[in-house]
Amino acid sequence: MTSVGIDAIEIWTGKLRLDLPNTFAPVKGDDPEKYTKGLGLHNSSMPDVYEDIVTMGANAAKRLMERKGLSPQDIGRIDVATESAFDNSKPVSTYIAGCLEQVFEGDFHHANKGERKFACVAGTQSIDDAYNWIKAGRNRGRAALVIATDTALYARGDPGEATQGAGAVAMLISEDPSVVELSTEQGYGSADETDFLKPNQQFPSVDGKRSMKVYLARMREALEDYESVAGRTHPDDITYIPFHTPFPGMVRKAALLGYRHMTRDTEIEEELAAELGRQPREEDFDSWDAYEEAIRGYMDGLKDTDRYRDWYARTIEPTLTLSGQLGNWYTGSVHLARTSALKTAAETGKGLTGEKLLVGSYGSGAQAEIHAETVQEGWKEEIEALTIDEQMARRYDLSFDEYEQVHDVHNHDKEIDVEEFTQPVGEFVFAGWGRMNERK
Ligand code: CAA
Repeated sequence: MTSVGIDAIEIWTGKLRLDLPNTFAPVKGDDPEKYTKGLGLHNSSMPDVYEDIVTMGANAAKRLMERKGLSPQDIGRIDVATESAFDNSKPVSTYIAGCLEQVFEGDFHHANKGERKFACVAGTQSIDDAYNWIKAGRNRGRAALVIATDTALYARGDPGEATQGAGAVAMLISEDPSVVELSTEQGYGSADETDFLKPNQQFPSVDGKRSMKVYLARMREALEDYESVAGRTHPDDITYIPFHTPFPGMVRKAALLGYRHMTRDTEIEEELAAELGRQPREEDFDSWDAYEEAIRGYMDGLKDTDRYRDWYARTIEPTLTLSGQLGNWYTGSVHLARTSALKTAAETGKGLTGEKLLVGSYGSGAQAEIHAETVQEGWKEEIEALTIDEQMARRYDLSFDEYEQVHDVHNHDKEIDVEEFTQPVGEFVFAGWGRMNERK
């Protein structure tokens, strides 16, 4: 059977930078270490005034198509995942296709276009749709373009303001992929939750503390469901676990949960329990709170053991490097985490072909999804072609006043004349409501 997966990845970051410990924390009266150590964030990417989800997505897709030598005829579907959509009728993929048609010969009239919404998990769902379309043999030899694009902004003064970000990840899903092959091993944890909502409003209403509990509860369900398909997974059999990363501190909690889950009732757990002098209480739990309470003592000790710290340093830390510099990209976030791990491996000369990844996606509202991937032979060449380091280095460093002005512009109900901080070169730019995005 043909292998299907991610053949190419391109990343586009918002072109402004908000320095959290040095610019944001002092004005908020916070200890900078709350950001760098507690949340694990150093910088957030912000969109310049001419950037939005369409321009960032189109710029990432354009670069991907140019690098891979693709024309519109090679693409049979364009799926955009976003929770920052501005049009309740036309999908964002039509706007992006319109941009790309200004640059590439031919058009996308033959391509199926859609928009996926389920908070941050929608990027992974779009990959699934593309996978199923190809596996069903409906693709007629064509590949799918999946674009996860978001401006993850919160109202000023909301605790979430510390975890903002903006950017797009474009991925080509095809047969015989170069980066990772997707497997059919997959598990879900899904429930109707109201911790994070955006009903016809620009910035979300969030119960931040509850959202963290919901993330962990759904992720645990997804792990259980995944095991019902794939069987028990030994933590050392997985090379990296890229989790959805709203901020690295959240992943510290998810990783601990995942490790405990994978090692429960095993020799590893027996050895660790003996070392710690604490047993995780084993019984049936009717709620996340009961589960959390029962294992709290054991988990507190577990995270400081050499065995766990070594596993975390190998399996999780490499997934967090980009997030700490870019912030939360919502739908793109878990795909940044995967890229971050592969990039670290490429930089340190680690061989990855044939290695297994477990990808933990999550969207508020709420759904977690876990699936396995296998790294393919062409991964290194693809990852080395990324320009994210140059893009990060080029970001304009905002003062707090400038940050507030830009933030107001992206809160669409205010019309404010603000200068552009960066110069677009050969890029798509937002030209105003009701007008086509232009290339500059
Ligand atoms: N030095 C070191 N660490 C410090 C510190 C200091 N001086 N001050 C605080 N910290 C630590 C805290 O102990 C805490 O760590 P632990 O959770 O491990 O204890 C961490 O820094 C954060 O501090 P607070 O809990 O006090 O932070 P907060 O209450 O101001 O905000 C938040 C945290 C509620 C998550 C907020 O950022 C938020 O609302 N974010 C948006 C919602 C979100 O991202 N939720 C995540 C799950 S939902 C999801 O994943 C979907 C999505 O993309 C949004």
